Amino acid sequence: MPASRSMRQVEAPAYATNRHARTFADSSLYCVATPNRNRLISIVVTQTLSLADLRKNYALGSLSETDVASSPFDQFRVWFEQAIAAQLPEPNAMTLATVTPDGRPDARIVLIKGADEHGFTFFTNYESRKGQELAATPYGCLLFHWIELERQVRIEGRVDKVSEAESDAYYHSRPVGSRLGAWASVQSAEVADRSIIEQREADFRRQFGDAPPRPPHWGGYRLVPETIEFWQGRESRLHDRIKYFRLADGSWRVARLSP
Ligand SMILES: Cc1cc2nc3c(=O)[nH]c(=O)nc-3n(C[C@H](O)[C@H](O)[C@H](O)COP(=O)(O)O)c2cc1C
Repeated sequence: MPASRSMRQVEAPAYATNRHARTFADSSLYCVATPNRNRLISIVVTQTLSLADLRKNYALGSLSETDVASSPFDQFRVWFEQAIAAQLPEPNAMTLATVTPDGRPDARIVLIKGADEHGFTFFTNYESRKGQELAATPYGCLLFHWIELERQVRIEGRVDKVSEAESDAYYHSRPVGSRLGAWASVQSAEVADRSIIEQREADFRRQFGDAPPRPPHWGGYRLVPETIEFWQGRESRLHDRIKYFRLADGSWRVARLSP
């Protein structure tokens, strides 16, 4: 297939979404998408691309001190519902940043499983790298990037384990494969090869059948926010940044930050 100036002129494979097509078209790349045997998209770029030239103008929305809800939880709910309504891929995926005992930053994605006045909840292995870091320094930062809405939400605060009952309730709501996976994976530990993990999964399946109990090393954490910042992209990089600070009496102070 000859190279084309626009993805729209290219016969895109069924699994190349409009989102991909838009991204490439906006970047003015000369590219062709072709299906290959393992169904990944191969992109042939026929023009040298400078990363420094990749830029996007943000013009979808705005945010002001007077518009936002008085509670950041209400504001989060509004934005999260809009992210769901916009059918973003995995709007519930967030970066969780922690800190190592020697003060170095660390980060990974986890899924948010609860957001209310008590905080933001996620589930994981308590003995994983993040679990060990949180045991030593129980503070974290959560970051959502809803790129299609030109939005970012940044949440900082103390991280505590949720109650056993809450972890049990969520664990038992998961598909049985995920419940066994929590037993099979010694999360973050080195393993010689994949077959060892699969063997552990099979062993636990034999031991527990379809009713595994919650592993003691697996459960939830809740980040209780001290600050929450809502970022809305604006033109000319003059973005809106509205930040909530929790006060001693539990109320919130709202301030605008410079972009
Ligand atoms: C979209 C996505 C969702 C994920 N959700 C979770 C999750 O909810 N809990 C979890 O423990 N790991 C989740 N992971 C895997 C983590 O990013 C990470 O690899 C794992 O938790 C080990 O991290 P650690 O070694 O820093 O403890 C997810 C990864 C991705 C890409």
